[in-house]
Amino acid sequence: MFDEEHSWIGVSLSEIYGAQCPWDAPQFPVIKPAYNHAVLFHVSEDGLNEINDRPPKPQTGVDKWNQDYVRMPCSSHSLYPVVEGSTTNLKKRWDIIQNALTKPMKNSQDLADTILSYNTKFKSIWKFSALHQLFNEHLEEEESQYFFSVTLPTIAKLALALPRLVQSPIPLLSTVPVGVMTFMRVTVPPKDCPKWASSNKLIGGTPLHVNSKGTIEDDGMGLLQVDFANKYLGGGVLSYGCVQEEIRFVICPELLVSMLFTEVLKPTEALLMIGCERYSSYSGYGDTFQWAGDYKDTTPYDLSGRRRCAVLAIDALPFRRLEDQYRPETIAWVGVSACTSKFEARLSYPGVATGNWGCGAFGGSPHLKSLLQIMACTEARRPIAYYTFDDIKLRNDIINIYKLLSKHNVTVGHVRNNTSPPFKANSMLALLQEAINNVQPEDWSKVVNKTERDIMSDWDRDI
Ligand code: AR6
Repeated sequence: MFDEEHSWIGVSLSEIYGAQCPWDAPQFPVIKPAYNHAVLFHVSEDGLNEINDRPPKPQTGVDKWNQDYVRMPCSSHSLYPVVEGSTTNLKKRWDIIQNALTKPMKNSQDLADTILSYNTKFKSIWKFSALHQLFNEHLEEEESQYFFSVTLPTIAKLALALPRLVQSPIPLLSTVPVGVMTFMRVTVPPKDCPKWASSNKLIGGTPLHVNSKGTIEDDGMGLLQVDFANKYLGGGVLSYGCVQEEIRFVICPELLVSMLFTEVLKPTEALLMIGCERYSSYSGYGDTFQWAGDYKDTTPYDLSGRRRCAVLAIDALPFRRLEDQYRPETIAWVGVSACTSKFEARLSYPGVATGNWGCGAFGGSPHLKSLLQIMACTEARRPIAYYTFDDIKLRNDIINIYKLLSKHNVTVGHVRNNTSPPFKANSMLALLQEAINNVQPEDWSKVVNKTERDIMSDWDRDI
């Protein structure tokens, strides 16, 4: 609208208010304490009326003396150097302030001296020239007197009431989240998946680290960290679940975002999440899981501002149709290969941190699943750091069998041909037999010693 008689153009102010009068417009939301909203007093249920009747009751809390909170002058941590004779001693600053503010002040020089008495390092910097000019040149004598006999003592009294009025820590409003993440759905058409049966890559070609101590998230720094996922990403994290995937999602809550836009994972798909930050420590697992406090993530950032942490979600649940392309080793390979082959120039990871994928809630055998993951990583040319979650026997079994397979030049193809479900008895024997060119049983002792035979039968029993 444009009207010569009005000083304004555009829409009327009532349209801006959304009401006839400014006070009919919606109010800001009422004060409600929340995780990101510190409220320093008890909020009355009755609202304003009660607030007007009585002064607000302070919230109590524990004093915090760190970079995220206002460092209160009345905190017991607040110490100030005081020169006494030839020595300098640290004194409680609040005692110095109380002492200074309870002494009478008669003019602007007294006021300046008082302030400097608990800010001694600014003695030569703060001149108070505007203050002195105000009292010496602009105010009447009567006005000055009123200020020093009534106004200033009231201000000082209020300042000294600080420990009573503010009893909970005040967060500094400067900590803006700056996290950046990439979510990448990795899809490989079944026709492009490896031809497992004919693969001649040597199992021993992939470096393997097996550890009975540690976890993927604590010790897999800089590696591609496997999330033992559900095809519906996050599994039970928003309801009851509390195993590896759910725990990872709650300690690195930015991962939860993936659940908003990741459709169910298909059998030859994985999700790579780069850049998440860890916020929480935890203890226990499953039913005994507990939050164990804040976690300060020191993982460095990459050039795009992401934490250098990559979580790879792969769903271990074997697909119902047991065709080649839907087998677990293929699923694992789809994930770990996301960082090799044609992606290699853009994304490069030194290795994969994994463990008993599919062997807890999904009930798989760690002996079989570790072998399948070794196959997948061999095919994708990725080293592996395998965490057995306190299982020392499993650690020894995996490393022993890996050494045995390496020694006899067993290939991914040999393993594949001998891990068809149902996994056969004597399968490790069969596997080696194939690898060592159908050696006759009577010749075994020449090629495989007693310890190695024990390792094989142990392994087959555990599968
Ligand atoms: N680091 C290394 N190993 C671990 C860790 C860790 N942080 N946590 C557990 N393990 P599970 P699944 C070992 O049951 O069988 C969820 O609901 C430990 O030995 O989480 O693939 C998902 O959403 C444990 O027994 O994985 C899926 O629905 C084993 O890894 C489903 O569970 C398996 O952990 C996936 O079940």
